[in-house]
Amino acid sequence: RDLPRTTQWGYQGSMPGPTLQAVRGEPMLVEWVNALPQQHLLPVDHRIHGAERSKPEVRAVTHVHGARVPADSDGWPEDWLAPGRSVLYHYPNAQDAATLWYHDHAMGITRLNIYAGLLGAFIVRDPEEQALGLPSGECDLPLILCDRLIAQNGQLYYPVSDDPEAPWVSECYGNAVLCNGKLFPYADVEPRRYRLRLINAANARHFNLSLSHRHAFMQIASDQGLLPAPVERERIELYPAERADVVVDFAGMDGQTIELRDQSDAILQFRVRDRGRRDTAALPAVLRAVPRIDPATAVCDRVLTLGEMDDANGGAMMMMLGGKHWSAPITETPRQDSVEIWSLVNVTGDVHPIHLHLVRFQVIERRPFDLFAWNAHRTLKYTGPGVPPPPHEAGWKDTVRADPGMVTRIVMRFEGEPGRYVWHCHLLEHEDNEMMRPFMLL
Ligand code: C2O
Ligand code: CU
Ligand code: CU
Repeated sequence: RDLPRTTQWGYQGSMPGPTLQAVRGEPMLVEWVNALPQQHLLPVDHRIHGAERSKPEVRAVTHVHGARVPADSDGWPEDWLAPGRSVLYHYPNAQDAATLWYHDHAMGITRLNIYAGLLGAFIVRDPEEQALGLPSGECDLPLILCDRLIAQNGQLYYPVSDDPEAPWVSECYGNAVLCNGKLFPYADVEPRRYRLRLINAANARHFNLSLSHRHAFMQIASDQGLLPAPVERERIELYPAERADVVVDFAGMDGQTIELRDQSDAILQFRVRDRGRRDTAALPAVLRAVPRIDPATAVCDRVLTLGEMDDANGGAMMMMLGGKHWSAPITETPRQDSVEIWSLVNVTGDVHPIHLHLVRFQVIERRPFDLFAWNAHRTLKYTGPGVPPPPHEAGWKDTVRADPGMVTRIVMRFEGEPGRYVWHCHLLEHEDNEMMRPFMLL
């Protein structure tokens, strides 16, 4: 049949781009070349911050999400490249095994560039993880999930607002879920264990994943690597940029088809066929210790709001962090190797997946607070006890779901090289509309 072909952007001519493989302690150089056409694939809304009219529409800069890198290789949003330009980035890979991903981070148009296809997986491995005997090789599959609006003509569509009061679309949701860039693909698997690296690369959608046949996932890792022990889960919720590595056992399911679903929609089919190979992979009961960072060792507790604001000179609503615009002077200035607590006070009605570059953190708790007391006199009054994270969130994270009506408290040690990095909401429409701030590691 003659199916319409959808134009996407990609890295090295593919969407997702090639999976980059790294080993802990083995540094890597990558030359990122902007070979994109002069014209953007999607309509670019110039009213968006940071995107002045004089600058080219097509600008791109790559960030490896979850990588501990020197500031000048992190993909600072304003260090974008025009078409025809390139840059050499250095990745030390001095970090534990984890499923990371790379994606565009260009100022003001990240949501459009990622939507167009600028994303891929980046896997870090290490000897301790290797020694666990987890499924590997062709039984280790990155599954990058995102949703897209596909128009009648088969092309990607990105909604543009014609409301002058609200010139940007505050969340873009698709009508189709892509898995590794494909619509409802299938994977031939054998009746044995597989490791699936689930990555939510969507602009705004959160996935609620399950398997057909009430088959369970054994979650072994979160954003920044292995959990202390596998956690059995029937459903996995993933917010934008979050990852979950799971082991799924297809043993005894020869001849069957298992679906990976988001809510009730099938997004991928596993066709189980026995090709006579024995399963030598294991699922150990103990994975890797995650030593808790003692919150008492924190040198400060930064109280930061996640809020909305009306733009004084346009009337448009913006999302803000700590009540500040991107361009306001830097206020978050942690010292190298110090431990800090960040208390994210969500005064909006929505979930915001908050991501910090450079560091991995631990979730201390989510705690309800009095919104009226906050709005009236900026007093943080807790109205109940803190809820500690469930086991699957008790490992290392780099993106955390900040729930409405809650203060989400995280703790981290600022390991890394001094310099300028960013933290932001990973709901890409929010990120591009002021919900991103710099921080300076001193
Ligand atoms: Cu996924 Cu600022 O990054
Ligand atoms: Cu990042
Ligand atoms: Cu947000």
